[in-house]
Amino acid sequence: MKTYIVGNWKMNLTVGESSIYLQKLLKRIRPTKGLEIVVAPSVIALQPLGIQLGRAKSKIKLCVQNFYHRDYGAYTGEVSVTQLRGLVDYAIVGHSERRYVFGETNKDLKQKVAAAIRNNITPILCIGETENERNFGETADVLRDELFGALSEIDADDVKKVIVAYEPVWAISGTKGAKIAAPDDVAESINLIRNELKEIYGKEIAEEVPVLYGGSVNPNNAGAYLTIPGVNGLLIGGSSLISDHFVDIIELAKRIRS
Ligand code: 13P
Repeated sequence: MKTYIVGNWKMNLTVGESSIYLQKLLKRIRPTKGLEIVVAPSVIALQPLGIQLGRAKSKIKLCVQNFYHRDYGAYTGEVSVTQLRGLVDYAIVGHSERRYVFGETNKDLKQKVAAAIRNNITPILCIGETENERNFGETADVLRDELFGALSEIDADDVKKVIVAYEPVWAISGTKGAKIAAPDDVAESINLIRNELKEIYGKEIAEEVPVLYGGSVNPNNAGAYLTIPGVNGLLIGGSSLISDHFVDIIELAKRIRS
């Protein structure tokens, strides 16, 4: 299984800044077998970055942070994954900021996962409990609900085209009072997610679904998360905005893999 290092830039960087960042990254990283490097810039930067990548498209993949589930039509202001075909390989679905700031529900996310798969774009489905849910002992229920809320109509063939990202909301740097998650706690949730997938899709298929970790990942703690059994990569917010940090994490992932 590949290791995925995904940078989610959220609503940061202008198109010009994104382009300078990409230039730095292209200079510093070499394609490495088994390592997939992905960046999710603002939607307005996707097209210029796609052109800038040119033949280097195999070195760095693009990801959209959000999209609407319909393919075309009278949906003012929206962008569909159909319009993004050929430009992005990945699409983030159900990030907690989409769930809690924009009120996206499991029903919306189910439609988004289906739309991404229909358009040959890999959905990165984010799930994770809030601090309150964790304190009330509801972590397992929340993970199960978010996982199957979005995957309930996805069969065994299609689930292999999905990436799951465990992002505990309380550990995301943008969350007020965010904390760093202990690797043991992350391991417990990753295990839970993998077991849920096994229960529904069977062991063999469940093991083919990459599961990433995200939440306050930085060059100092990335190694501890990457070496958790069952973690297949990282979804990085704040630290991915600093190209040196992102490159350090990529280098670390390379060393861990080899
Ligand atoms: P931080 O790495 O800034 O905590 O963000 C994580 C995240 O939300 C990535 O999608």
